[in-house]
Amino acid sequence: MTIKGPKGTQDFYGIRMERWKHIEKTLNRLMEIYSFQEIRTPVFESTDLFLRGVGDTTDIVDKEMYTFKDKGDRSITLRPEGTASVARAFIEHGLHQEALPARYYYMGPMFRYSRPQTGRYRQFHQFGIEVLGTREPAADAEVLEIIMKIFTTLGIQNLKLEVNSVGCPVCRPVHREALKEHLSANFENLCPTCQSRYEKNPLRIFDCKNEGCQSIIKEGPTITDHLCEDCQSHFRLVLTYLDQNGVPYVLNKMMVRGLDYYSKTAFEVSAGREGAQSSIGGGGRYDGLIEELGGPELPGIGFAIGLERVLLTIEEQDAFHSMEKGLPMVYVANVSESDLPQALSLVRQLREAGIPAQGDTMARKLKNQFKYANKIHADYVITLGEDESAKEAYPLKNMDSGTEVIMPLPALIKTLRGEGE
Ligand code: HAM
Repeated sequence: MTIKGPKGTQDFYGIRMERWKHIEKTLNRLMEIYSFQEIRTPVFESTDLFLRGVGDTTDIVDKEMYTFKDKGDRSITLRPEGTASVARAFIEHGLHQEALPARYYYMGPMFRYSRPQTGRYRQFHQFGIEVLGTREPAADAEVLEIIMKIFTTLGIQNLKLEVNSVGCPVCRPVHREALKEHLSANFENLCPTCQSRYEKNPLRIFDCKNEGCQSIIKEGPTITDHLCEDCQSHFRLVLTYLDQNGVPYVLNKMMVRGLDYYSKTAFEVSAGREGAQSSIGGGGRYDGLIEELGGPELPGIGFAIGLERVLLTIEEQDAFHSMEKGLPMVYVANVSESDLPQALSLVRQLREAGIPAQGDTMARKLKNQFKYANKIHADYVITLGEDESAKEAYPLKNMDSGTEVIMPLPALIKTLRGEGE
């Protein structure tokens, strides 16, 4: 019996791996331009981090965490997201004593135990940024500009940025009471999960997919209409900046996001796909998180994008044309067995010059070497026999056009590097 990969996980290879690397490269390049530093944190953390950070009444913590006891009887959780880990590392290493705002980015696997379907996996990958130490609306605007810049650079179309403000500890209790009052009149009609949310965290009812709950909550008061003066003016400024920077957005008062650490600005981006898996990225401000985790009173804002969903979107939109092609790949074929050492020596010299090259390691006949070169999509083939070795002049065959040019090694290298003769 063969063993299959675990449910909700994927293997990446072939063209999809190339596309994945193209996305990673684009992200790394943009991060350099926007001057963010990479941060790598472990894929597992103490369970407490997410209980306190993400919130124990969220779906993520309540239903979706991979939590287990290690051999030392510690409760460990595979990270379901990256923000809590970055905040933990920031506090643990006293990074707030360095230049603020701190600007970090990360990329890596996250784990959520949910029902797998297209665009939703149990192991998925996020790219995220976190800006720590600034409360200013200008920071919110920059973060929003960056998420949109990433998607447009990747060639994604039909982008929709939805923004909202989810308030702060000053205005939220006022809204909570107003919301509870509205809900209490309809309590019997809420689903059992939302009935339990009513006391613990009524804002989570906005996330419920149940149609009955949706129609009740739709009529209820939104946090956006209950913002305190500070949150209102902050939000107004963020929107003004977006207008000034020419970043289109839609205001969605129903959007509260599925994590408890958010305050003030919250946002999500989609790109034409409908349904629960439509969000290709999301984020917001989390001004209380660092303090909640035992650190100084410092604000933060960031986002994460789902790389699998980005890949699917680019594929669906057929937008991989912008993928830059690297250097051409050369296959060096040997005419007979006795030519193999020279052929492999040429492969070595090409590689030394930074050119991707491969030779025969299967003792294949010439015809089969050509078949192989075709299968691996070699851009060029050099066929090396006694004559070529003796003259040190090599026939470079373009596999697309079929044309062949004979050249000595230095000219060959120049051509393959695209430097001309
Ligand atoms: P999130 O909205 O939970 O936010 O996740 C961000 C993105 O990760 C989603 O928009 C989606 O593209 C992707 N994603 C989430 N769950 C899955 C899944 N099961 N399968 C595939 N993709 C998925 C956060 O995680 C926050 N930490 C973002 C943030 C950073 N907020 C502030 N800073």
